Amino acid sequence: MASQLRLRSALALVTGAGSGIGRAVSARLAREGAAVAACDLDEAAARDTVRLLGGPAREEGAPGGKHAAFQADVSQAAAARRLLEQVQACFSRPPSVVVSCAGITRDEFLLQMSENDWDKVLAVNLKGIFLITQAAAQALVSSGCHGSIINISSIVGKVGNIGQTNYAASKAGVIGLTQTAARELGRHGIRCNSVLPGFITTPMTQKMPQKVQDKVTGIIPMGHMGDPEDVADVVAFLASGDSGYITGTSVEVTGGLFM
Ligand SMILES: NC(=O)c1ccc[n+]([C@@H]2O[C@H](COP(=O)([O-])OP(=O)(O)OC[C@H]3O[C@@H](n4cnc5c(N)ncnc54)[C@H](O)[C@@H]3O)[C@@H](O)[C@H]2O)c1
Repeated sequence: MASQLRLRSALALVTGAGSGIGRAVSARLAREGAAVAACDLDEAAARDTVRLLGGPAREEGAPGGKHAAFQADVSQAAAARRLLEQVQACFSRPPSVVVSCAGITRDEFLLQMSENDWDKVLAVNLKGIFLITQAAAQALVSSGCHGSIINISSIVGKVGNIGQTNYAASKAGVIGLTQTAARELGRHGIRCNSVLPGFITTPMTQKMPQKVQDKVTGIIPMGHMGDPEDVADVVAFLASGDSGYITGTSVEVTGGLFM
C-alpha cells in the first residue's frame, strides 16, 4: 500500500518494536509522519529499529530527533507505568497511537504444558497488553487527548491451535480486553481495536519446523504466509483518521485462513 502522511502530528508508542511485526509497524507509522517511541525488552533491538526509521534519533529525555528507543518488560506493572512516564517526559505529550506488538510463544501440548509456560505467555501477551492499554489510557484521559489503541491478537485466539493452549488463551483474552476497553474509553475519544494476523513471516514463525510451515502454507487461500508489512498496513489504517468511526473491532490479516 502506498504511504500517505496520515499521522503527521501523531506520537506512536509501539511495543515489541525490535523485531518482526513491531518493527514493520514502527517503520510504517514513521513513514506516515508519526514520531515513534519504539519499545522492546531488547533495548539494542529497539535502538536498531529507531536507526532504521531514518531521521535523527532523540536521546531519552533530550530535545531534538524525531524518534526514540525505550527498554521495558511489558509484563511488569512498574515497568509499563515507567515507560509511559518516560515517553511523556521525552516527547512532552502522551502517545496518541499505541500499538502493542510484544508477544511470545512457549508451545507444548496441553497434556505436557508446564504451569510456568502457561504463566509466562499469559503474563506477556495478555497482562502486558492490559498494563500498556491501562497506562496509555490513563495518560490520554488525564491530559484530555484522543487516541487510537491497537492490540495485536492472533487468528489463533479465535480458532485455537494445536500446541498453543497458552498462546490461544492469551490472544482470545486480548480480543475481549480490547472490546471492553473500546466500550469504556469511547466516551473519552479513545478507539481500541485488535488485529488478528494469521501466519506472518517473522522470527516467531521461523522457529516453526519447515514441515509445519509448508503445511500451514498449504491451507492459506492466498497460498503464502504474510509479510509484517501486511499487518503494518492495517495498523496504519486503524491508527489514522481513516478509521475514525471504527472501535471494538478485530481485523483479520490472514490471507483468508480460517475465514
Ligand atoms: N508472526 C506471526 O505469524 C504472528 C501471528 C499472529 C500474531 N502475532 C503476534 O504479533 C506480535 C509480534 O510477533 P512477531 O511475529 O513480530 O514476533 P517477534 O518474536 O519477531 O517479535 C516480538 C518482539 O516482542 C519483544 N518482547 C517479547 N517479550 C517482551 C516483553 N516482555 N516486553 C517487551 N517486549 C517483549 C521481543 O523482544 C521481540 O522483539 C506478537 O504479539 C505475536 O503474538 C504474530
